[in-house]
Amino acid sequence: MIDKYGRQIDYARISITDRCNFRCRYCMPEKGIEKKTRDDILRFEEIIPLIKALSKLGVKKIRFTGGEPLVMKNITELIYKTSQIEGIKDIALTTNGYLLEDMAQELFDAGLKRVNISLDTLDAEKFKYITRGGDLLKVLRGIEKCLSIGLTPLKINTVLIKDFNDMEIIDFINLTKDIELNVRFIEMMPIGEGKQFYDKGIITANQVIERIPQLVPIKSKEKTVAKVFAIKNHKGNIGFITPLSCKFCDECNKIRITSTGTLKPCLHSKQEINLKPYLNNEEELLSLLKISIFDKPKEHFLSEENVTRTLRRMNQIGG
Ligand code: GTP
Ligand code: 5AD
Ligand code: SF4
Repeated sequence: MIDKYGRQIDYARISITDRCNFRCRYCMPEKGIEKKTRDDILRFEEIIPLIKALSKLGVKKIRFTGGEPLVMKNITELIYKTSQIEGIKDIALTTNGYLLEDMAQELFDAGLKRVNISLDTLDAEKFKYITRGGDLLKVLRGIEKCLSIGLTPLKINTVLIKDFNDMEIIDFINLTKDIELNVRFIEMMPIGEGKQFYDKGIITANQVIERIPQLVPIKSKEKTVAKVFAIKNHKGNIGFITPLSCKFCDECNKIRITSTGTLKPCLHSKQEINLKPYLNNEEELLSLLKISIFDKPKEHFLSEENVTRTLRRMNQIGG
């Protein structure tokens, strides 16, 4: 499927819930989250036909996101069923890692290829603070579990948070010395709760790269939004995701599905198409998907105040 700007769309990020067992300060408010009913969110029996339709249009890579996707019962079955769909070559998960210690093996056995784990600090107290109560050691055990069973390549997502984790950048980079990890630093985006952090000033990828002359740019083996760097004698590598300082919209290959069943052709745009009424009619679904993907916005306007901006929080989109 090619959109009207000539971009090939082959990657779908499917948010299966907006619930989360953490409350990261830049992502979710502490309280006042409206509870979605079962009828509001897509059932797995609706997601599978949707993925089938997407695969017919050329989607090859599926990433399940949240909120936190692992809080959903039966995710293992969802992954297994997805792995049986012709044309789906890559099934990945973006998770906070809290439940991986217990679930990594069954997910891997079901056909999950790889996980990206969010981790913003290596200090247990700071971790508890930023996630509002999370247990760092449990997440680290989850990471070890993935590595030990070969659920790799493993990526760590670290959102750069001014005056919070900028002093830990070297510690994160050092993780890649002996472990084959891909640590990716993400610029803070002014979405939802992230806006308050963004307004206090962001750390850009270039500020980090300038501080670390050992970083050598390399060409990534896979298609990814990250700019990837190696360091001599390090087993892993370092990536930067730069939606602010250097947008990658020209090469965007993805669409997003929210847990309430809308298609978001662009992370940052308000534009959403409600797929729910069409999920049990493949023909209609395919034609709606085709029109909507073709019309994907050209780029985001994140650094400007703009009426086209999404009103959703990050936990409602899945990153
Ligand atoms: P890989 O397939 O492993 O490269 O993963 P990914 O980077 O596509 O997925 P992940 O969920 O790990 O995303 C990491 C961060 O990149 C999240 O903060 C996302 O919001 C951000 N990100 C991913 N794709 C886009 C995009 O198209 N636009 C913007 N602005 N941010 C994105
Ligand atoms: N800016 C950048 N990244 C964010 N994430 C959540 N909110 C933001 C934000 N405002 C990250 C999470 C996770 C990924 C899906 O998105 O930390 O790694
Ligand atoms: Fe949950 Fe991830 Fe949001 Fe943190 S960033 S509250 S782990 S969805």
